[in-house]
Amino acid sequence: MSVAMTGDGLPRIADWNRLLDGRVAVITGGGDGIGAGIARLFARHGALVEVAEIDQDRADRIRDEVAGAGGSIRCHAVDVTIDADVARLAEDVLAERGRVDVLVNNVGDYRPLVPFEQSTPESWQQQYDINLRHVFAVTRAFVPSMIDAHRGSIVTVHSVEGMRGYPKDPVYGAMKAAAAHFTTCLAVDLGRHGIRVNGIGTDLAQTPQVDYLTGYEDVDELWASWAPVGRVGWPEDQARVALFLASDQSAFVTGHNIPVDGGTKAGGGWLFSPREGRFVNRSRNL
Ligand SMILES: NC(=O)c1ccc[n+]([C@@H]2O[C@H](COP(=O)([O-])OP(=O)(O)OC[C@H]3O[C@@H](n4cnc5c(N)ncnc54)[C@H](O)[C@@H]3O)[C@@H](O)[C@H]2O)c1
Repeated sequence: MSVAMTGDGLPRIADWNRLLDGRVAVITGGGDGIGAGIARLFARHGALVEVAEIDQDRADRIRDEVAGAGGSIRCHAVDVTIDADVARLAEDVLAERGRVDVLVNNVGDYRPLVPFEQSTPESWQQQYDINLRHVFAVTRAFVPSMIDAHRGSIVTVHSVEGMRGYPKDPVYGAMKAAAAHFTTCLAVDLGRHGIRVNGIGTDLAQTPQVDYLTGYEDVDELWASWAPVGRVGWPEDQARVALFLASDQSAFVTGHNIPVDGGTKAGGGWLFSPREGRFVNRSRNL
């Protein structure tokens, strides 16, 4: 193991390049986008990666890539919105590995965006299924084994839109906010079992789902006002924070939701105007 406990109970990092050495890490939606970025980085840090992925081509691609680079990875054909698939995933992983040390709930989707006045019970259910219900289901499937082992780190990737007002689809925003608050509540519940629970409020990550790099004619100019850090984000930006939360680097951190957003949440209503060379809070000044 890369991390030993010192006499006073504090984790001592023995190898900073292998922060998850030998840890079993389940990643939902690990075939592409942010989940794939997390799978790559975790495997590079010595994790035994278990990807739950609905898309076989994406699963094959990440498996070949990670295994080709010498990492440990298995992929499971799983739709996390289907309870029987989740049960099979838990059975397979626990039968092979005997335990799960890290769970990353990453699956989620904002599509289709539905203005609230046009939303329906069906569209509410769809948002619930893809952004929240499976977070309960997959977490519920692995928590008993984490309790038995008295060890675990759960990381849920939700959205900065669950941490601020999201006018374009309030139901999506509400589902992500629920995932963030579930994180907070579960952390308090499970801390005494040696399990930490944290979340990531993503924004601006270039992925297949959210393609920031095409479709914006003035994209270069846009970044200066869009993100305080002045650039698009990458799955790796999210993965580094997931690594911190999954590993003993964050041994004293639980119940938190970290915006990994290039500063959009912190910026609130303030936008940098390249034209005026100053921050403005009125769109007409942009
Ligand atoms: N990209 C962003 O800027 C951004 C912003 C806010 C929130 N998020 C959140 O981050 C997470 C990851 O987003 P992304 O942009 O990487 O998404 P993505 O769609 O690019 O990738 C998601 C992966 O999950 C898989 N998947 C989808 N449904 C599945 C299911 N039912 N079962 C198993 N696997 C499934 C997909 O095949 C894909 O490999 C999501 O929860 C999303 O809501 C992303």
